[in-house]
Amino acid sequence: MKDILERFRRLCVDGYVQGWHERNGGNLSYRMPAEDVSDCNDIMTDCRSFSFSEPIRGIEGEYFIVTGTGRYMRNAEIDPEGTFGIIRVNDAGDGYTVLWGLRDSRPTSELPTHLMNHAVRFQATGGRCRVIYHAHPANITALTYTIRPDAKTLSRILWQSETECAVVFPEGIGIVPWMVPGGMEIAKATCALIDRFPAVVWAFHGVFASGSSFDEAFGLMHTIEKAAEIYLKASAVGIINTITDDNLSELGKAFGVTLNPDFLE
Ligand code: 13P
Ligand code: ZN
Repeated sequence: MKDILERFRRLCVDGYVQGWHERNGGNLSYRMPAEDVSDCNDIMTDCRSFSFSEPIRGIEGEYFIVTGTGRYMRNAEIDPEGTFGIIRVNDAGDGYTVLWGLRDSRPTSELPTHLMNHAVRFQATGGRCRVIYHAHPANITALTYTIRPDAKTLSRILWQSETECAVVFPEGIGIVPWMVPGGMEIAKATCALIDRFPAVVWAFHGVFASGSSFDEAFGLMHTIEKAAEIYLKASAVGIINTITDDNLSELGKAFGVTLNPDFLE
């Protein structure tokens, strides 16, 4: 299999092994640079074309690898062509063509969120962002039942639950209150946050994480989920100590990152 498809598959399997992908839960997309497109040229043929319910700006003519709707991440290992595929968004940005894979399937129901996030995040990172990853990790999802859906509250809890968090996501993490998944509305609500935050939590549902590479997106998801796990464990016993705002500022200085000043007290 092509190297880029192997690397895409690896993240699917890694996420499944973490327990983040029950049934068909979660989805993944990768914006292919020109070298990946030319490497995959010999396997791509126009299979089927579909329309979006409304045009999506900023990704016209781009190629993506995406997981299929209803597909199980755990099957990426044994059935890559049935689990994910390559699509090209048309030049008008109002539809796409499947060029490889996605056998008996279509792209994820969260395709609008993935593609709109790619458009926004690509701009926000000066063209570095290539990966958008949605997963259903249990601890960060459980945490959303215990707080108001507020980015400052969530970000401070995570920063204070594991020392490295403030270095990994100094901008903080966004949160969208509960919404019906799978359409343009939740895509727009996520997009409105992902220009400022590298990841956005969906209350009572899961997380969208972004990254310039599979490692970065997976690592961000892993860091968020682990911090949430630590917080829930510490809360269950009773928190009597935490990382202070002075500690957070010291971290910022030591690692040369600027923590979101709106989230410090
Ligand atoms: P899909 O099977 O359409 O990718 O949906 C899974 C999911 O997690 C929806 O939020
Ligand atoms: Zn989901």
